[in-house]
Amino acid sequence: SSNRVRPLLTFVLGGPGSGKGTQCAKIAETFGFLHLSAGELLRKEILSGGENGSLILDIIKEGKIVPSEITVNLILREIELTENRKVLIDGFPRTDENRIAFERIVGVGPDLVIFFDCPEEEMVKRLLSRNQGRIDDNIETIKKRLEIFDKLNLPVINYYSSKGKVHKIKAVGTTEEIFEKVNPIFASLSLN
Ligand code: AP5
Repeated sequence: SSNRVRPLLTFVLGGPGSGKGTQCAKIAETFGFLHLSAGELLRKEILSGGENGSLILDIIKEGKIVPSEITVNLILREIELTENRKVLIDGFPRTDENRIAFERIVGVGPDLVIFFDCPEEEMVKRLLSRNQGRIDDNIETIKKRLEIFDKLNLPVINYYSSKGKVHKIKAVGTTEEIFEKVNPIFASLSLN
């Protein structure tokens, strides 16, 4: 609401399986951020039988991209509901269209962007060994998610790079080793 200071917004980007969700959980815990995952919000919308649930299910099963208005409004609802002024948005924006819709609907862009840069064969290996049975973790859908990442998400990362907002992290090694590279970025922000 209007009398609140606007939140510190961080977009966390990277290919499928690059470790966005894993690292966001650690950032949230260490630095007190609210962690919003676009994919998670969409999956919740499916499960809750929300008005767009079955449309979203069909799109995710194919590894495709859900219409921007739906995703942006799910994110905005969470930002408006929380008192937390430090927000991580994991796996969003996916496309230039997403980015532009966010800026139009929310009225601001991110303060910073973290990009987890991970080799494709490593991402595939991680996703195939994930054992929570996600509907999109089969090799066919993984290939589509990787293609969409290259074609649609890399341009978003390049856009923010040109604005000087991107911190690029080489996302190989253990979760702890990667977090050691992430930690200083947040430690150097004044977060009070
Ligand atoms: P989303 O849920 O965002 O999935 P994703 O981008 O494909 O990424 P993942 O969650 O699979 O991987 P991650 O990078 O978070 O890695 P994680 O930490 O889990 O999106 C899913 C779908 O939703 C999209 O395909 C699309 O259809 C839809 N969608 C999402 N956003 C949208 C948008 N804005 N607009 C429209 N549609 C949208 O790690 C992966 C695995 O690796 C885990 O098992 C983990 O334990 C393991 N792991 C992590 N780090 C390491 C490490 N260092 N070493 C070894 N293993 C590791």
